[in-house]
Amino acid sequence: MTDKTFPLPTRNDAVLDFLKNRRSNKSKAMSGPGPSDEQLQQILQLGTRVPDHRKLSPWRIVVFRGEARERIGAQLAKTYASDYPDHPKDRVAFEAARFLRAPVVLMVLSSPVECLRGTPVWEQELSVGAVCMKLLMAAQAIGYGAQWLTEWYAHDDRMRAALGVNEGERIAGFIHLGTPTEPSMPRPRPDLSSVVSYA
Ligand SMILES: Cc1cc2nc3c(=O)[nH]c(=O)nc-3n(C[C@H](O)[C@H](O)[C@H](O)COP(=O)(O)O)c2cc1C
Repeated sequence: MTDKTFPLPTRNDAVLDFLKNRRSNKSKAMSGPGPSDEQLQQILQLGTRVPDHRKLSPWRIVVFRGEARERIGAQLAKTYASDYPDHPKDRVAFEAARFLRAPVVLMVLSSPVECLRGTPVWEQELSVGAVCMKLLMAAQAIGYGAQWLTEWYAHDDRMRAALGVNEGERIAGFIHLGTPTEPSMPRPRPDLSSVVSYA
């Protein structure tokens, strides 16, 4: 007989509905307001409550708000313009405004912990993906639009330096948080039969 003296997992239809219906909003169709300080704390708290083999917390989050977004935009515009000297002016302006679309941008970094015969880096990297997903879901559950982006600057050494990424760290994503200015389009999802098989 099952010991029922501990709380068993229970069905939660609200969560099931949320999981079925939630989807991302494009950062280019995002504006203010963004999460309040208190809501941001809650998003960060929930977002870092993820599976993490050996409790290493092998990730780091940097919050960009207000003027910090402009500084990064200036660096993005400069880097882009130096790579493409014949750039169209509006494209440089677009780069400068990348971080201004959403009121809050969370840079999520994989920051693996070296441990001999410990948790493989691959597993630590999987954990940072869980952080990104959980941040999205927490923000969306509070009522904000959210999108996980990387774009070219996640993989550019000059921008990584400007963003304060340390040696050995990798950018898992920029989680954009804000208020949607238009509805998000439904996205085709994979047919289960193409991704699931039964052994
Ligand atoms: C690691 C990662 C990086 C991504 N980078 C971009 C990106 O740079 N540009 C983009 O349009 N979508 C990017 N996406 C896709 C969107 O975040 C996301 O898949 C899409 O908006 C639908 O998400 P949803 O399932 O939450 O609706 C990325 C997704 C992942 C997992």
